[in-house]
Formats: sequence, structure tokens, C-alpha cells
Amino acid sequence: MIPICKPKITEEEITAVTKVLRSGNIVQGEETSSFEKEFSEYIGTDYGVITSSGTTALMTGLTALGLKQGDEIITTPFSFIASANSILYTGAKPVFVDIDSKSFNIDTSLIEKKINEKTKALLIVHLYGLSCDMDAIMEICKKHNLILIEDCCQAHGAEYKNKKVGTFGDIGVFSFYATKNMICGEGGIILTNNQDIAERCKALRSHGEFKRYNSDFLGYNFRSTDVFSAIGRIQLTKLRNFNERRREIAEMYNQGLKDVGDLKLPIEEEGYAHVYHQYTIKTSKRDELAKFLSKEGIGNKVYYPVPIYKQEPYKSMGYNETLPVVENISSKVLSIPVHPSITDENVDYIISSIKKFFGEESGD
Ligand SMILES: Cc1ncc(COP(=O)(O)O)c(C=O)c1O
Repeated sequence: MIPICKPKITEEEITAVTKVLRSGNIVQGEETSSFEKEFSEYIGTDYGVITSSGTTALMTGLTALGLKQGDEIITTPFSFIASANSILYTGAKPVFVDIDSKSFNIDTSLIEKKINEKTKALLIVHLYGLSCDMDAIMEICKKHNLILIEDCCQAHGAEYKNKKVGTFGDIGVFSFYATKNMICGEGGIILTNNQDIAERCKALRSHGEFKRYNSDFLGYNFRSTDVFSAIGRIQLTKLRNFNERRREIAEMYNQGLKDVGDLKLPIEEEGYAHVYHQYTIKTSKRDELAKFLSKEGIGNKVYYPVPIYKQEPYKSMGYNETLPVVENISSKVLSIPVHPSITDENVDYIISSIKKFFGEESGD
């Protein structure tokens, strides 16, 4: 079976973890501070605050920005549910805007219709590793004085006009979950250029303590550990190569799957650098193709089959809208393996299997 995702772990990560374990200091310490510094430098912000997951990083960041009950935050319905849940955790209300059918990211032409006096922020998601249209987003935020949160959990190293995602917003948030472009196992980080926000995030992460055992406001325990940070530091040194390999595989698919059946392939317009967290194709025969690929030993997955507003926690809160593009797209997308652990032979096999599926379909 060719898995849909698999972390690339080598002796280097094992040695780094062993070193931390041998040191006896496995809680959050020096390794984590170094990782915060190295990752924020790589992306291009002044500060980084590691937390236990991408979800807790989003929650911490939104709280540090002062977002709360009564506020509305505009976001996408097509993401991992954590993006919108992080808004709910603060008491604020997620307001969903439909997506663009080609990029799968929020449709910037529809955002302004949803802005009112309660709208405080925009939480955008650079889905599958492709940046949102940042010129349009920045213009809207400036015009309406909105806070910008970038959910970069799937976009480590992705760029828009030669600037990395995570550097545009008031905060940028990344996840280091085991399936991401670089991993810790679990973990997340909030990036910002604002020292106050960074300090508040640090305090929120640890029970609201600016000083140990002296709590200034209600916080949490969202700390990570040096064991995870040791893995992250090694993975960061490999991120550029990982992303290059992902791009190389994507290019093989772009060539090999061009004009096959009714397939629509991912786009990467001028000015964008996609990091292909997922390589996601679109077809009206999605469910049949998924079944066929599984039988051929090819991992595949639908990210995401149900728009967030249609999921139970949202339905039970009274969300009952229908956004046409996301409803259509979520019934057609299928992700195929693009992670750096697969070989060129694997990619050739996947391409020929997909061609075989469409060939059989058309009676070739
Ligand atoms: C877009 C997006 N946002 C948020 C998260 C939450 O990250 P985590 O799973 O580390 O909590 C994820 C990933 O899993 C994600 O893909």
C-alpha cells in the first residue's frame, strides 16, 4: 500500500530525541526556545510561541488578540474543523464565506458582503499548501480595519509574491502534527511581529503566568515538550528539500494527468509557490475513483467531505446555510499521495492507475 501520508523520520531525529531524553530535561525548555527562534526566523517573523498543537496555537493566538464573545470572524467552510472551532472556543462567531472553485481557498470577492459592525477579524486558511490571494485579503483588512489571522497549518514554506505565508497577518499559525510538511508528532506555533501578542501567548500557554506561579489572567496548559521540539528542529533543516520533492512529484502528476478523464488538477498561478501539503484532484467520479485506487493499493483521502457549517456542532448551533461552491467541491475532491517518502516509480504507478480507471470508464 502506498500511504496517503507518512512522516520521514531518520536517525537524525532519533539521535536528537535520545539526547533530550538522556539530558533528563524533557519538559519545555532550551530546545523549544531554539525551535521557536529558528522557525520564526525561517518564516520571517520576530517572535514564535510553541504550543501543544495547531489547534491550541490558534486558540491561544485568537485569545491574545482579544477576540471574544460578540465578535464575528469571517472564515472558510472548507478546512479542517479546527480552523473554525478555534473561533468558537473564544466565544466569537465564525461567519462562513464560500470558496473559489479553482484554488479551494476563501473567495475574496464574497468577503465584503459578510462584513458588519460586529466583524473584527478574518481567519484565512492557506489550504493544501497554496496561499490565499493576499493582495485582496490585505486590502479588505486595511479598508475595514480587520485583524488578520493566517492559518498556515498546511502551508509551511508556501509563498505569495516571494513572501512566506505566516508573515502577512497579525499572527500566523502552524501545526506540526504528524502528517504535515514538517512534523513534531504534535505541536503548533504562533508567529507574530508584535512583542505584546507574543508575551500574551506565552502567558496564556502557561496559566496566564508572566512570572512562574504568579497568574495574571486565566490561561491554560498548552505547553509542548523538548522531545517534540528536538524533532521539529531537525525537520526544519529538511523542510526546503521536503517541499522541493513535493513540488517535483506534483509536476509529474501535472504532466501525467493532464487531459485525463474529467480530472481538474491543482492550480499554481504566477506569484504563488505551492508546497503541496496535498495534491488534490477533482472529478465527478470521485467515489468510484477512490474505491478503485484503494483496490490498487494506493492511499487516498477526501479532505474534506463535509463543509464545516454542516457538521453537528455547527448544525446544533443553528447554522443552516448552503454555500454552493463548497458543497459542490466537497463532493468532488480527492487527495493522492504527494509526500516525500514516495518514489518516482510510485508516482508512475499512481498515474497509470488513474489513467486505467478513466480508460476503463470510457471503454478504451
Ligand atoms: C488547516 C488546519 N488548521 C488547523 C489544524 C489543527 O492543527 P492540529 O491538528 O495540530 O491541532 C490543522 C491540522 O491538523 C489544519 O490542517
